[in-house]
Amino acid sequence: MSILYILTLAVAAYAQVQNSSTTDVSTDSLSKKLQPINYGAFTQTATYSVANQLGFFQAYGLNVTYLQVPNSTYGYNQLLNGGYDIMTGTVDNAVNLRFNQQQPLTVTGQLDGGPELTIASIPSITSISQLKGKALMVDSPVSGYAYILRKVLALYGLYLENGDYTFQVVGSTVIRYADLVNGSLPDGTPVYATIFTYPFTSEGSVLPAAQRPNILASIVDFIQPFTSSAFTIREDALNNSTQRALARKFTSAMYAANKYLASPSHKTCSINSIAKQLNVSTAAATSAYNSATDPLTGETSSPGGNFTVNRQGILNVIDVRSQFGGFSSVPTGFSYADAIIPGTGQLIDYSLLDEALSSLVSYTPSSKC
Ligand SMILES: *[C@@H]1O[C@H](CO)[C@@H](O)[C@H](O)[C@H]1NC(C)=O
Ligand SMILES: *[C@@H]1O[C@H](CO)[C@@H](O)[C@H](O)[C@H]1NC(C)=O
Ligand SMILES: *[C@@H]1O[C@H](CO)[C@@H](O)[C@H](O)[C@H]1NC(C)=O
Ligand SMILES: *[C@@H]1O[C@H](CO)[C@@H](O)[C@H](O)[C@H]1NC(C)=O
Ligand SMILES: *[C@@H]1O[C@H](CO)[C@@H](O)[C@H](O)[C@H]1NC(C)=O
Ligand SMILES: *[C@@H]1O[C@H](CO)[C@@H](O)[C@H](O)[C@H]1NC(C)=O
Ligand SMILES: *[C@@H]1O[C@H](CO)[C@@H](O)[C@H](O)[C@H]1NC(C)=O
Ligand SMILES: *[C@@H]1O[C@H](CO)[C@@H](O)[C@H](O)[C@H]1NC(C)=O
Repeated sequence: MSILYILTLAVAAYAQVQNSSTTDVSTDSLSKKLQPINYGAFTQTATYSVANQLGFFQAYGLNVTYLQVPNSTYGYNQLLNGGYDIMTGTVDNAVNLRFNQQQPLTVTGQLDGGPELTIASIPSITSISQLKGKALMVDSPVSGYAYILRKVLALYGLYLENGDYTFQVVGSTVIRYADLVNGSLPDGTPVYATIFTYPFTSEGSVLPAAQRPNILASIVDFIQPFTSSAFTIREDALNNSTQRALARKFTSAMYAANKYLASPSHKTCSINSIAKQLNVSTAAATSAYNSATDPLTGETSSPGGNFTVNRQGILNVIDVRSQFGGFSSVPTGFSYADAIIPGTGQLIDYSLLDEALSSLVSYTPSSKC
């Protein structure tokens, strides 16, 4: 055990004793036993990077295992069958699974508004019109990002339904980024373009010219506001006090880290956390930081700065999905307007977030970051 590690635990334990009346994390950490939690995510967000690098999870008595989601189908099945205790994923998935299939998933808050959501291509393609006749990489052809790709391309006169382009089903952005930079799938099939998300637009921007993807369009120029990553949990985990307490601590830690990220005085430490977590250069991490703190799309953009869902943002998610027949299993007369009202048993339930915000512990990371 390193001295730094012992110090971190000591600071965390001390912080919790100070506020032990509002939380039960103190006992976990005083006995130096961290609770394991499985966190599924599509990307290592800036909030996660800060929380993980600067000791926020330990401060809440948590040992977080980050589980990379390979594709949305697999990821949401994992959440539903207990493989993930909580996840962050594009809210469109939760909307789809609840409204079309009545799956028992609950959104407990919004993390971001789609930072760095772009259409990126291989270097030889320089405009949207050149995507005509090409195969475009997606996670799933019926996922939210496939729909926004279709929406933007339609605004340029290109339609999937007319055969102007096709889809290659590849997986989440981590995989699509690697394939785009490589110029082909592992089996050698050429690739042309895809949707990027945070932090891949930044990571790609610092690559040598021969590999550097072109950014053909930014989604924010076409759809805004847009609710993207959202904290999502199994509904029955909210009904189980043990699982609920674990998710609450995770939410508190992410909230505290998000507040830290939002403060301009922590810019250097936040950039360092991102650089360390992603193993990228300071230039790429600075670009990622700028996206993560963007007031319109960033991780600090939720109304009230407290992970509440942007109402117009989720309405835009519903609107884009509807435009392409993405609610084919929803009964006639279904009220989307009522279905997005937060409450117990609804798509969005803030009760966990409310508890998380009232169980914060006092914790300040070392200024030597
Ligand atoms: C965190 O959990 C991992 C296993 O998932 C374990 O190897 C590690 O020792 C734990 N760390 C702490 C500090 O408890
Ligand atoms: C999704 O990921 C799982 C687990 O890695 C894999 O078995 C499955 O083939 C993937 N599905 C697609 C469509 O890529
Ligand atoms: C990269 O592309 C080549 C073909 O250009 C392919 O053979 C190889 O498998 C790809 N590598 C990865 C990791 O996908
Ligand atoms: C959770 O509890 C609420 C009421 O407290 C109930 O409406 C809901 O059906 C329960 N959900 C599950 C999946 O058990
Ligand atoms: C609640 O969750 C815990 C931990 O996952 C589990 O051991 C317990 O059986 C669950 N309780 C109920 C009533 O399902
Ligand atoms: C970090 O990236 C460098 C190259 O950019 C690589 O050599 C190194 O193995 C990476 N480290 C980890 C832990 O992935
Ligand atoms: C978040 O902030 C909004 C706007 O200030 C407020 O209305 C809402 O009650 C807050 N939510 C929580 C969970 O604190
Ligand atoms: C205890 O937590 C509350 C939030 O619930 C916070 O406002 C307060 O500053 C904390 N007090 C200490 C001593 O950390």
